[in-house]
Amino acid sequence: MKFKKNILCIGAGYVGGPSMAMIAYKCPDYRVTVVDINSARIDAWNSAELPVYEPGLNEIIKKTRSKNLFFAKDIENQIKENDIIFVSVNTPTKTFGDGAGKASDLQFLEKTARQILEHSQSPKIVIEKSTLPVKTALAMERILASAKGKITFDVLSNPEFMAEGTAMADLENPDRVLIGSRETESGLKARAQLVDIYARWVPVKKIITSNIWSSELSKLVANAFLAQRVSSINSISALCEKTDADISEVARAVGMDGRIGSKFLKAGIGFGGSCFKKDILNLVYLCSYYGLQEVADYWESVVKINEYQQDRFIANILGSMFNTLAGKKICVLGFSFKADTGDTRESPAIYITRKLLAEHAQVVISDPKALKNAAIDLASDKGKISYIEDPYSAASGCHALAILTDWELYRKLDFQKIYKSMVRPAFIFDGRNIIDHKKCFDIGFNVYPIGKPALSRFEGQSSF
Ligand code: UDX
Ligand code: UDX
Repeated sequence: MKFKKNILCIGAGYVGGPSMAMIAYKCPDYRVTVVDINSARIDAWNSAELPVYEPGLNEIIKKTRSKNLFFAKDIENQIKENDIIFVSVNTPTKTFGDGAGKASDLQFLEKTARQILEHSQSPKIVIEKSTLPVKTALAMERILASAKGKITFDVLSNPEFMAEGTAMADLENPDRVLIGSRETESGLKARAQLVDIYARWVPVKKIITSNIWSSELSKLVANAFLAQRVSSINSISALCEKTDADISEVARAVGMDGRIGSKFLKAGIGFGGSCFKKDILNLVYLCSYYGLQEVADYWESVVKINEYQQDRFIANILGSMFNTLAGKKICVLGFSFKADTGDTRESPAIYITRKLLAEHAQVVISDPKALKNAAIDLASDKGKISYIEDPYSAASGCHALAILTDWELYRKLDFQKIYKSMVRPAFIFDGRNIIDHKKCFDIGFNVYPIGKPALSRFEGQSSF
């Protein structure tokens, strides 16, 4: 079959896989191929057990795979055959050299640009899908401009705003699609081609275009603003605990102001995920690089509050359980960084579990989707942790429950049954404020929410 457009994506991760699946699903007359240097990942995309868990993804893969969506390993050949190339390789925080701990490590992006240069035999549109520091397109263009002969490349920026756990819904019905390009004749032509792809299912008024630098920067800023809201509400949760105010009531009252809005005001144990911390640190680095130290400090405080919130949570567990956890069994309910994903990258649960182990607690981890990743994250602590998917078996014989992920199933647990199987006095530390605290207190638990008065039988034990 002859396809109208041939699209390639380099990088078959959480972003590349689902976003290309959606394009293939919405555009059956386009051929979409996804490649990756990790051949096991490609095998997984071609198998019944996909490497990424997302509600609705399986169904779309079933409808498109081997029809107009292909997962392939022959990267060089695919570069030759496709005219539109999305780049969705990872851009982690640099761990070495200048900017270590803050700047983005762009080595994979640069290698990919060189690979595209080496194997292209015709003009290409190269699209940055990865989140990148502003001005990265300039480096990309400079590498591609060294092409021999007449091959030309147009570089576009098309950052992806989907969130994990709701990726398919976000991709199908995005708040906006952002496409940045050079404002030259050829840049605008390339931009129009990409607009055409999204216009197959996204209303045109939601497809916004901009200059390429605005597009690159907007993605960093969107993530920084979202993370800043989480840190803002978490900082106020600390004040609530000192003043008997209730963070849910405060968030509701504040969020009903249309100018503020109600989303991203859930207090908890802090944000995780592969993006927020990495992108803010990148923004901090960029601001410092351009000599804007005050701006850098402002954004860095968002990350500091996030760390503070996790430390507060641990200190609360320790303080409430009579200042010793040694030998006590703690059940961690939820390990993924948020509900509806098995992803554990930068999950607060990693840090909290390590802190519990440092106090010589015995840790049992339960999660419906993330146990495999949890065992990888905590491989160096092998032998000290048990992994039990069933929450009832996991809680049995424990002194405390620490709810770290907002999985819906934890709201519906039979806490009476759990209480009976635990050591007394039994504690619950609800790091996501998702269960009925009063009900659990009445059952017999000592309950410690975030940003609300503790329901404890031990008078004088303050929350923090
Ligand atoms: C990543 C970045 O973290 C994010 O900032 C960006 O917006 C999109 O890419 P994600 O898809 O979640 O997000 O990352 P990951 O799941 O690690 O996927 C990246 C994939 O690229 C990996 O499968 C990796 O093997 C692949 N890759 C990396 C290549 O194919 N070629 C390379 O040179 C490097
Ligand atoms: C985020 C952005 O939302 C998305 O637009 C971007 O493309 C990638 O980064 P993601 O990291 O998948 O998406 O999840 P998100 O829903 O933003 O949650 C991030 C973290 O913040 C999670 O740990 C979540 O539990 C936490 N969070 C979120 C809160 O603690 N409170 C809230 O009110 C919202």
